[in-house]
Amino acid sequence: MEEVQIKTGYAKRDFLGFSPLDGGKIIELFDYALFIKKKRRESPTVSGFLPLRDKTVAMIFSKPSLRTRVSFEIGIHELGGYAINLDGQSIGLGSRESVQDVAQLLSRYNDAIVARLHEHSIIEGLAEYASIPVINALTDLSHPCQILADAFTLYEKSLWHEGIKVVFVGDGNNVVNSWIELAGRLPFHFVLACPEGYTPDKGVLEAARQKGISRIEITHDPKAAAANADVLYTDVWTSMGKEIEMKERLKIFAPFQINSALLAEAKPGAVVMHCMPAHRGQEISAEVMDGPQSIILDQAENRLHVQKALLVKLLNHEEYRKFHLTHRLQNAAKKIKS
Ligand code: CP
Ligand code: NVA
Repeated sequence: MEEVQIKTGYAKRDFLGFSPLDGGKIIELFDYALFIKKKRRESPTVSGFLPLRDKTVAMIFSKPSLRTRVSFEIGIHELGGYAINLDGQSIGLGSRESVQDVAQLLSRYNDAIVARLHEHSIIEGLAEYASIPVINALTDLSHPCQILADAFTLYEKSLWHEGIKVVFVGDGNNVVNSWIELAGRLPFHFVLACPEGYTPDKGVLEAARQKGISRIEITHDPKAAAANADVLYTDVWTSMGKEIEMKERLKIFAPFQINSALLAEAKPGAVVMHCMPAHRGQEISAEVMDGPQSIILDQAENRLHVQKALLVKLLNHEEYRKFHLTHRLQNAAKKIKS
């Protein structure tokens, strides 16, 4: 990843996927998100802590969104910045104007770009031409902000460890690709149970397997996959942009529902996750979605805290580093005392 000096004096870093981060940097980000979350609890209104003061973020949405848009917009506001919402279609990204021109122009006005797009190559183009950080808010290929929040949720609940078995039941889609990308950075056991022909991106899978950090398995048997799982995870059977296939997918994916019978195959304390939006009665039964093992709303809430941490890391690295230096000094002092 190339680093470009921007007006604030720190290096431009994009977040298109997990590749710029190693395992240590991901955990560092989680620790910062814990701090950000605690700060919000202590002072729920916009406080004196404004690391994004005077910064503006252009958000481009070419696909529908609830969580991503709201959590980014609120997060930017709470950090003292200002978010501008742009509809991908109305600005004509790649049609009315070239990706290059949009990226260069937005870089003259703003401090970052958050984009939810169809083709992943467009977000790569934005990152190439923008002199400000570009954040992937979902593309057809990946959804790294979601998986950052998901893994953080497990970390926060002290469930994250090297041997954790995360079983995704459903489509090998953008959310799965990001889980696999994470498995190339942090060690864990990832299993995807999907119908034949609905496997994840080959390039993403090969790259993660080559890293040799995690055990990554693909199966077509949800019951076998769920055995001993610590986490059962699912997502819609029909992702945005694939609506034309919905009828066919409803039939093909019917055996890939997370319900009480499947949950009974997992470890007794297993948790259930879903990135939402969810369809009760399709990929997940209502009793599981709303049951005691579901941590689905925690995941959704954590989008806010993790993305705020990410924004500070990318837009005010000095503040982010200051926190970690203090954190390390405090830990060292604790060790000396004990
Ligand atoms: N999980 C998620 O990204 O939700 P939205 O599509 O509503 O943003
Ligand atoms: N796979 C889903 C995720 C939605 C957050 C989609 O792309 O529509």
